[in-house]
Amino acid sequence: MSASTPTLAAARNLEHWNSAAQQYAKAGDLFAPEARLLTLYAADLKRWSMLDLGIGAGRTTRHFAPAAGSYLGIDYAPAMVEQARQNCPAFADRIQTADARCLDMIPSGSMDFVLFSFNGLDCIEPSDREQVLREVRRVLRPGGIFSFSAHNLYSVPFRGSWPMPPLNVGKPLESVYRLAKRTKRNLRIRNLVKNRNTDAILRRGWAFFPDGGESYTVPLMYVAPGFQKEQLEACGLRLFSMQDGDCREILGTHPPSTDSWLYYLAERV
Ligand SMILES: C[S@@+](CC[C@H](N)C(=O)[O-])C[C@H]1O[C@@H](n2cnc3c(N)ncnc32)[C@H](O)[C@@H]1O
Repeated sequence: MSASTPTLAAARNLEHWNSAAQQYAKAGDLFAPEARLLTLYAADLKRWSMLDLGIGAGRTTRHFAPAAGSYLGIDYAPAMVEQARQNCPAFADRIQTADARCLDMIPSGSMDFVLFSFNGLDCIEPSDREQVLREVRRVLRPGGIFSFSAHNLYSVPFRGSWPMPPLNVGKPLESVYRLAKRTKRNLRIRNLVKNRNTDAILRRGWAFFPDGGESYTVPLMYVAPGFQKEQLEACGLRLFSMQDGDCREILGTHPPSTDSWLYYLAERV
């Protein structure tokens, strides 16, 4: 199997991630659901082989690599890989440049745990998303775990605006900056959705919008939980947990969460 010929969206994405390496170098902490995962699987991880996809500047490497029995971190942006190696020198030899769409260097069934954190899966265009899920399924052993987060389609303000960030009187300049950024994003998303058939998008369960990065021009997937569950199942992965940003279990709950992104846990069937 080989990664498909890059489309414009894929090329734009790769260009963006290569240029964002410095900015990502600063990010260090885990998000609450990731920290919880690390605690939940701490005992198993010690003997598990772990594949960390789209590691960026090594944010998750720092926390998961020391905890895992064996660890391999990959990213397809060479600048990110370089940054990750600098940030995590103890694991530099376990960090590689590779594309999640083509994991040929990893034997089938050899991984116990695969992570694709911080919505990295959403950088991949719709036509290739299934290919990544099939590759994840192939490298996992039966019963192996796949954890990832994804942008939530129900967070997109098709008929309104993204909520404004709260004002912090102690940091007026930062507040104004954040407000201006959010206003820009609101105007942008309104433009993006104004000529679209919202009902059709919601029925389909996903959208691919240029909404990422500092300038909101990087194409990103937004998926509805129901769509994501079906897609995982079609690829031989059974969804068994879905959490919002506060670690609340929301699998099958109604009305659907409107959190910006959701955390999925699936098992290799
Ligand atoms: C939002 S960043 C997250 C980085 C890191 N996981 C973190 O949490 O800080 C998404 C990362 O996924 C990587 N990525 C996107 N598509 C990829 C692909 N097809 N294969 C490997 N990495 C990919 C990007 O280069 C980028 O570093």
